[in-house]
Amino acid sequence: MGLGEREQTLVLIKPDALKVSLTGYILSQFSEFHTGLRFAGSKIVHVSRMIAEEHYAEHRGKGFYPSLIDYIMGRLHYPMEPEKRRVIALVYSGPDAIRKVRQITGPTNPHVARDNAPGTIRALGTVVPIKDAEGNVVGDRMDNLVHASANEADAEREVKLWFRPDEIMPYMRAYPTEVASKYYFYKDGRLLTQEEAGGVCLVAPGGLVWASDLDALENLLQGKPGPVTLESVAAKYLLNREGEPA
Ligand code: CDP
Ligand code: MG
Repeated sequence: MGLGEREQTLVLIKPDALKVSLTGYILSQFSEFHTGLRFAGSKIVHVSRMIAEEHYAEHRGKGFYPSLIDYIMGRLHYPMEPEKRRVIALVYSGPDAIRKVRQITGPTNPHVARDNAPGTIRALGTVVPIKDAEGNVVGDRMDNLVHASANEADAEREVKLWFRPDEIMPYMRAYPTEVASKYYFYKDGRLLTQEEAGGVCLVAPGGLVWASDLDALENLLQGKPGPVTLESVAAKYLLNREGEPA
């Protein structure tokens, strides 16, 4: 059973797509004319290590993981030009959004996409050998141009990871929100409710937050082990800040 009009999916136009100027093509493939889906959110993001690691948490420990993190952070496609390292993050909304977007995106492996699903976006991607410090090939990385949420649970987690609720217009918000009644600060991996030198204010009283994030913050304050990390809540509030370590 789908969520109907309220179904949403997260798309990332990855650094390789930006580098070869495929943005316009990708947007046209996902356009309302082709898919019936509407934009619910969009922004240009300098990808922090924090959000990269949260986004790809399920792949932690796999051989391609370090390379995947460097890839999504733009470090591989723009080694000397940090100012060009970015992704375009989009939320699409509408009936069957997740499946429709995945179908246009195509299989994860660009070689498979070319063989089995020509015409999909990922058929234009590449597979790159991963080398160790000695130059030996130790695996493959798939530079496949776009990310698209795989299922409803991933879509909800990913939309909330990349977007604050106030970045999505009220009519388009698919997940419950709440208004914060106190301050939450982030400093060196810790959650604080009072300002400290070097701390960053994530949320202030009156701020609109995802209800599940507020639950997570309160659980963390009470020291309850939860399924979510502080970073999975904080990452979106720390994006595009000056001085953030690359
Ligand atoms: O992106 P998708 O959900 O189709 O695939 P995934 O299995 O969740 O993997 C996430 C991303 O990791 C892929 O899109 C690839 O960029 C990369 N990957 C890789 O480089 N090598 C693999 N063997 C598997 C995934
Ligand atoms: Mg995936």
